[in-house]
Amino acid sequence: MILIDGKKIAAELREELRQEVVGLKAKHSKIPGLTVILIGDMAPSQIYVRMKEKAANEVGLKSEVIRYPEAVEEKTVLDKINELNKDENISGILVQLPLPKHIDKQKVIETILPGKDVDGFHPMNVGNLSSGYESSVPCTPLGCYLMIKKIEPNLSGKKAVMIGRSNLNGKPMAQLLLKENCTVTITHSKTKDLKAECLEADIIVAAVGIPELVKADWVKKDAIVIDVGINKTENGIVGDVAFDEVSKVARALTPVPGGVGPMTIACLLKNTIECFKRSQK
Ligand code: GUN
Repeated sequence: MILIDGKKIAAELREELRQEVVGLKAKHSKIPGLTVILIGDMAPSQIYVRMKEKAANEVGLKSEVIRYPEAVEEKTVLDKINELNKDENISGILVQLPLPKHIDKQKVIETILPGKDVDGFHPMNVGNLSSGYESSVPCTPLGCYLMIKKIEPNLSGKKAVMIGRSNLNGKPMAQLLLKENCTVTITHSKTKDLKAECLEADIIVAAVGIPELVKADWVKKDAIVIDVGINKTENGIVGDVAFDEVSKVARALTPVPGGVGPMTIACLLKNTIECFKRSQK
């Protein structure tokens, strides 16, 4: 079984990006800038944002975090986004989710200029991805995709099963694999026989938030299994895949932690650089 070492692949990607930033700086006399907006003091968001900031600095990007208290007015946030949209030194804007209930998530997403939307959540980017045009691609599925391609460069004709239909992962992941000529199934909580669907799959991407849902007898021998789950349990952090047993049947499997997580952050940096390059064209 191949243990897909997301930490190592992400470190390699960051090194490539670091070198690319050096080249961009020489060519354009400026460097890509990422601004993250963080609202409230939810612990996981604080941790993720700190990791994003550290990684951005490591590859030589300009990075800034703007923090607001939980009670901040929606208008204050939208005004700030509009200001960042106009700022030529800012290549990418990310508003960390989830947001407090009084702030309209979709309004926030739609206020970010599509060209600065490093999350790929703006309807324009969602539409361009599904139509096969150039777009920002959400960081988590992009990271999963890059790991799958490392294991299997030719995905044509493979059967891929997404577990979970979120805008953050399942749907954009399906689009990326469809582009690679996979036959894609998106499953969800109302799917009749999830185990039977998974047993057909050459590639499984699990992103539902149910601890160790995917068992060894759900997985075809030699399948590639990507575990997006991060679940807090009595036994510590576990993914959506029962790692020990599935590792005995799968061809390749991502660990939790150390699989998808580091790739998501590296892909955010990649997206920031892509936004910068498109803005310089
Ligand atoms: N919260 C959890 N994952 C993400 C992500 O990929 N982007 C943003 N903006 N917020 C998140």
